[in-house]
Amino acid sequence: MRKRMLVLLLAAAICMGGCGQRPGGTEPAVNMEEDEEQKDSGAEQNRKEDGSDAASEGTDNTEGEDGNIVSGEPASGAEEEKGIVQAKGLAELYQENFPIGIALSGYILQNTEQYGQVILENFNSITCENEMKPDSLLDQAASQANLEDAYLHAAVHFDNCMPAVKFASEHGMKIRFHTLVWHSQTPKWFFTEDYTDEGRLVDRDVMLARMENYIADVLGYFQENYPGLVYAVDVVNEAFDVGDGDETGIRMNKNLWYETVGADYYYQAFVFARKYASKDMKLFYNDYGCMDKADLILEHLARAREEGLIDGIGMQSHLSTDDKIQHKFMLAVKKFCDAGYEVQATELDIGVKEDSDSAFLLQGRKYRSFFKNMKALQEEGYPVTGITVWGLNDDLSWRRDEKCLLFDGDMNPKNAYLGAMMDPSIPDVE
Ligand code: GLA
Repeated sequence: MRKRMLVLLLAAAICMGGCGQRPGGTEPAVNMEEDEEQKDSGAEQNRKEDGSDAASEGTDNTEGEDGNIVSGEPASGAEEEKGIVQAKGLAELYQENFPIGIALSGYILQNTEQYGQVILENFNSITCENEMKPDSLLDQAASQANLEDAYLHAAVHFDNCMPAVKFASEHGMKIRFHTLVWHSQTPKWFFTEDYTDEGRLVDRDVMLARMENYIADVLGYFQENYPGLVYAVDVVNEAFDVGDGDETGIRMNKNLWYETVGADYYYQAFVFARKYASKDMKLFYNDYGCMDKADLILEHLARAREEGLIDGIGMQSHLSTDDKIQHKFMLAVKKFCDAGYEVQATELDIGVKEDSDSAFLLQGRKYRSFFKNMKALQEEGYPVTGITVWGLNDDLSWRRDEKCLLFDGDMNPKNAYLGAMMDPSIPDVE
């Protein structure tokens, strides 16, 4: 394993020395389902955690506009070197701090002979990219077939997420469950009287019953069959967005939960999740843009928090190399922690602005800053309890064009990986 690590690092060093990042790999194209998911995400592809849409914050005095180092200090060697020499990979390097997770698609889990070793060397937590979302778990045919009995209690099945569950169980990894209640990737039929896409929407009481039964079924399934496997649950995803929200910022547009249950749908989800979750399942609210909407999130979650229904905030962390890590992102982390929540980075990826050596070096430095600062906060006593990277390699990412992940399309570790590993070749940056 260690030998493999050294080979990987050597390959990366050669790359840094001259060949630059590969423009693309020989990886088979992502399957159609993946493409469909990317299309479905539509405009959301453009929103990042305070990413490229956000106003520029001016020039960072540690990096030039082209991303070249202007005054960055080289990383101080010994401790980091210890990490890279002694750790097999990310999971081991951060084992005293928190789990390191990876979001995996069905495609990757069907090709574990190709990807398994890198996964096992670096990650100890899995999030399903799609296979635990409502459109994967809900069973329309079974619900329709038994409409009388299923009217308040839609059928579910776990076939799609079984490869992830099996892989995690077999290899002693944990699962971050993503996600129970979300306006997206939840089929319209779930909200209608006859479980068809064309049917009339049901009323609040029916939808609350369906929500409760769904949450009870899903959480119950994991508790009964795989006790201890799921350590964190994204109970609600993306419920607050000023642009798409009501006058208080609760997501209203294209949100059938809001339309049927009403503005308190996210609160109700936490009531049911707490009722059915086991003690070892931490309950999370998960969202993008947390740097900019921390106050909005805290305000709306206050009641659930006071009632002990929620444990943590999942900061999706879809970032770009423009983002300030230490002096912006980490301030939001502290703010959530100070308000009584634990914090996990749940969907980390950091996009580059251009395909150049300097851009990929800056990306490496930002990954370094991200991991280093999260670790430092955890060591200071802030309840930072995990980092999950949203995808395994650049070619399989939902942000393919921004090459935002740790490995390139051929699974060569990038500067991004070296940065996350605290390799001394990647200097510190803000
Ligand atoms: C959001 C969701 C994720 C995923 C990404 C895009 O961040 O929380 O599940 O769908 O969008 O891939």
